[in-house]
Amino acid sequence: MQSVKKCLALLLALLAAPVAAQTEHPIPRLESRGGNHALIVDGKPFLMLGAQVNNSANYPDMLPEVWPAIRKMHANTVEVPVGWEQIEPVEGKFDFSFLDTLLPQARANNVRLVLLWFGTWKNTAPAYAPAWVKLDQKRFPHMINAKGEVHYALSPHYRSTLEADKRAFVKLMEYLKKNDPQNTVIMVQPENEVGSYGSVRDFSPIAQKLFDGQVPAPLLKQMKKQSGTWRQVFGGDADEFFHAWSIASYIDEIAAAGKAVKPLPMYVNAALAGAFGRQPATTYSSGGPVHFVIDVYKAAAPAIDIVAPDIYTRDHAAYMAYLDYYDRPDNALIVPETGNDRDFARFFFPVVGRGSIGFAPFGMDYTGYYNYPLGAKDLDDATMELFARNYRLFAPMQREWAAWAAQGKTWGVAEPTDPKAEHSQKVDMGKYNMTVTFGQWQFGTDKPTGNAEPVGGLAVAQIAENEFLVTGFKARVYFGLSKPAPFESMMMLRVEEGRYDNGKWIFRRVWNGDSIDYGLNFTDREQVLRITFAAVKGTPPIPVGNPN
Ligand code: DGJ
Repeated sequence: MQSVKKCLALLLALLAAPVAAQTEHPIPRLESRGGNHALIVDGKPFLMLGAQVNNSANYPDMLPEVWPAIRKMHANTVEVPVGWEQIEPVEGKFDFSFLDTLLPQARANNVRLVLLWFGTWKNTAPAYAPAWVKLDQKRFPHMINAKGEVHYALSPHYRSTLEADKRAFVKLMEYLKKNDPQNTVIMVQPENEVGSYGSVRDFSPIAQKLFDGQVPAPLLKQMKKQSGTWRQVFGGDADEFFHAWSIASYIDEIAAAGKAVKPLPMYVNAALAGAFGRQPATTYSSGGPVHFVIDVYKAAAPAIDIVAPDIYTRDHAAYMAYLDYYDRPDNALIVPETGNDRDFARFFFPVVGRGSIGFAPFGMDYTGYYNYPLGAKDLDDATMELFARNYRLFAPMQREWAAWAAQGKTWGVAEPTDPKAEHSQKVDMGKYNMTVTFGQWQFGTDKPTGNAEPVGGLAVAQIAENEFLVTGFKARVYFGLSKPAPFESMMMLRVEEGRYDNGKWIFRRVWNGDSIDYGLNFTDREQVLRITFAAVKGTPPIPVGNPN
């Protein structure tokens, strides 16, 4: 009887095991509520303090030149390419030896991974497609430009190409399902910077026939348009919108097939169009997820969770504009690529301030490649340190920050640089507002002149009605009431410096006197403040003196 009981218990334990494993390692997912977003990793909101490696760092021998940079940067996530040519060099024969090396090494370095699928399109071209795809233009046709010439990009209109890419991508997801039960890989980016340069769309007969047809219903619904042909509905935008729809639908089918195996969050990244105005679509990656066509991607690609900007502009106003375009109630903000030069480090603050799920400078390894002028000329220690200090500051509280962001309670700014900038930024936070200045001394009320180098940044989270967490570098912040009642004012009741440790606030000291009389001044030191405000109900002035 005893042994029957034991057997039964064992059986029950075995049956329960997969369920327990699943709850122990729930698959990462994106959660959106009330227009705010969270990437849920291991069951809790997660802020991706990311780094992307250089394009050709995706081989086992390169990894020893990757990890030291990642450790120095204090990143918690690494974005790494996986090339189609690498996993399917011979059609139907798959080789995952790079992932066999990458996954255990990532775990040993205590970081998560985002895999970048360089398939049909990498920066719009088929560079990472296997030779058997590149050399067979009959089976895998290229686009045709408006003059009837063969274009360098593969056409999104052929099932042969789509099926071949999809099969390899599904194999990759099957590999992850089998070999990554702990979800070291938290997201996947199918394709890379899609679209086409130099031709607004494919003008091949098969594409033209579709272009002359009706706009699909989901797109009409998304754009609130009446039915008609592409030209009738979208006029001058028709060619680009059609191309975006065609590429997005193609990626959607690949992503959906991958998600059917393992439903990891998936995003596409954009080689951006100009931030202001509208240039001819032939001057940027037409059909890629530039900001004019986010709605097209939303309608065409429900399996794609996020449309993301790769931001390489150093221009402050343009950078902020891109963040605003991609930060939408239906689109979680993530900056999966940005420059790794010194002036980009401060943009981390407005990115996390807008509640982004992640940020990742590009080229963060010691393989010796530098994509200057997009990024740094050299990833020397001083440059690396500007990124590392951001991550050191946020790493202990990334879970808390991600949870505040998911409630829409975070804000942030970076030092402006345009010639007319007043070296000061005002941010409305509802009941309170803040003014952040750059280049002031810590004591007194001198005019903000900007820092000698634009490295200032500051981010704030509202953690209770009258309680805020503030942090940053090389910036001064003043808080105020947005709509004070008559004679109402506010005071900083208590300003604590401290840090988060495993979800707990660890007190260090109270800031008072000079330290708070002229705003709160952040220097190069890594400091986190927790502030309690109190509104003071005022009374009208009392008449003074003797009227007689
Ligand atoms: C954006 C691409 O997505 C990256 O793979 C890389 O090519 C950079 N541009 C440039 O270094």
